[in-house]
Amino acid sequence: MLPKAEIHVHLEGTATPQLVQQMAQRNEVEVPDHIFKSSELFAWRDFLDFLNTYDLASSSIQHPRDYYDVTYDYLQRCAQQGAIYVEMMYSPEHAERASGIPSREHLLAIDQAIKDAKELFNIEGRTIITCVRHFGLDACVKVAKHTVEAAAEFDTVVGLGMGGDEAGYPPALFKTAYDIAAAAGIPCTIHAGEMDGPERIWEAIETLPINRLGHGVRAIEDPKLIDAIIERDIVLEVCPTSNVVLGVYQDYQTHPLLKLLEAGVKVTLNSDDPPYFGTTIGEEYDIAEQQFGLTQAQLRHITKTAIQAAYVDKTTQQQLLARC
Ligand code: HPA
Ligand code: ZN
Repeated sequence: MLPKAEIHVHLEGTATPQLVQQMAQRNEVEVPDHIFKSSELFAWRDFLDFLNTYDLASSSIQHPRDYYDVTYDYLQRCAQQGAIYVEMMYSPEHAERASGIPSREHLLAIDQAIKDAKELFNIEGRTIITCVRHFGLDACVKVAKHTVEAAAEFDTVVGLGMGGDEAGYPPALFKTAYDIAAAAGIPCTIHAGEMDGPERIWEAIETLPINRLGHGVRAIEDPKLIDAIIERDIVLEVCPTSNVVLGVYQDYQTHPLLKLLEAGVKVTLNSDDPPYFGTTIGEEYDIAEQQFGLTQAQLRHITKTAIQAAYVDKTTQQQLLARC
């Protein structure tokens, strides 16, 4: 099986409806029925409704045991599809808001699940702590400070990220939060150029200490931006199916994956929120082959790009590269 790597997936967004329902039941949380389409898929209408559905489903994740199950379950499924490395964005605010349990306890559970999955399935997992834009700047500063402490304690906590409502909350607003993480040597990424245009990507790369972009696909609309991304060696975390189902692009034919590759941009393949977008990391690789016509050699190269861009320690990175 072709080795695969994923560096853009939301940990809470990996929990299947089946697991969300189990957790809601054992935690006695009410989750409305209308968010479930099937045991494998969530139902939502548009981007803001997706974010709302995501927040509702994530409210079922309350206890460290829940985070253990979500993490272990996801890494097991990824390993079955040939993934050797997965970097998962964990949002401390979701669980803290839902349960009041300090994030550190959730991180202990996630750390244990990552170690167990490594031992049982030979897959390396790492955590990026992620801020939520629509929770505001103060909340993000708190998350950035928490990331600095957590990265010092857990060797599986490796970076800072940010998702949420891009159009309502531009990148520059969060400079203070990013500077806190970067000053502590923590590498950073941000969603940009997904729900808003290339001007937001410019804003992100000019003002924030980032070396990867979540999505970043709309950079294709601005050739100078493409040059800047290449020159600064910024890697794109591309999620083709997420973009198509969220309506960023009408279909795979109009998605810029190939144009970005041809322009010489470093791209990776990712699932984003698998049960919301009806995909998996394995399927994204299949789609890249079948819909975009990439060869096995190109797919292997994409895995290498992801491992080279990963926020993992150098020793593990070398071991992973040897498996590609
Ligand atoms: N985009 C932006 N924010 C998110 C997403 C996403 O796909 N998933 C969870 N938060
Ligand atoms: Zn995302």
